[in-house]
Amino acid sequence: MTTARVLFVCLGNICRSPTAEGVLRHLAAAEAPDLVLEIDSAGTSSYHIGEPPDPRSIAAAAARGIDLSGLRARQITAADLTRFDYVLAMDEANLAGVRALRPCAATTRVQLFLDFFPAGGEREVPDPYERDGSAFEHVLDLCEGAARGLLEQLRGG
Ligand code: 4NP
Repeated sequence: MTTARVLFVCLGNICRSPTAEGVLRHLAAAEAPDLVLEIDSAGTSSYHIGEPPDPRSIAAAAARGIDLSGLRARQITAADLTRFDYVLAMDEANLAGVRALRPCAATTRVQLFLDFFPAGGEREVPDPYERDGSAFEHVLDLCEGAARGLLEQLRGG
């Protein structure tokens, strides 16, 4: 049986990474019940510690049947880099923030989430915080594509 621990990372842990967490949970339950996954998310910043996801993220995910309302923001710690198998950053700045927390366990894969969605044609999940509703839909679309790619890899390996 395949087991994996996956941590998603963005800046605030209120928009992109909780969305990725919810999407992966949702898809894994529906399409990969054979996988045993521990899924979490964190921010590189301390800006929103303890807060629920942004109401726009909660609403956009709810429209797709995904409940983010119970999540609460936290800041990534160095211990996360040894506890998780995959630490998946939403953009290059987040990735640099994660890498600054080294040392990572030799087995921890630290990379961009969209590496798992090459067909999407984007490297980064754009920050929607200062943008309108369509940006939140785009975050969901990218997260769904990458979550499917990640699940395929986990099932294959
Ligand atoms: P996130 O979005 O990194 O996807 O959670 C942001 C949330 C808050 C801020 C920036 C980005 N902020 O500057 O407070």
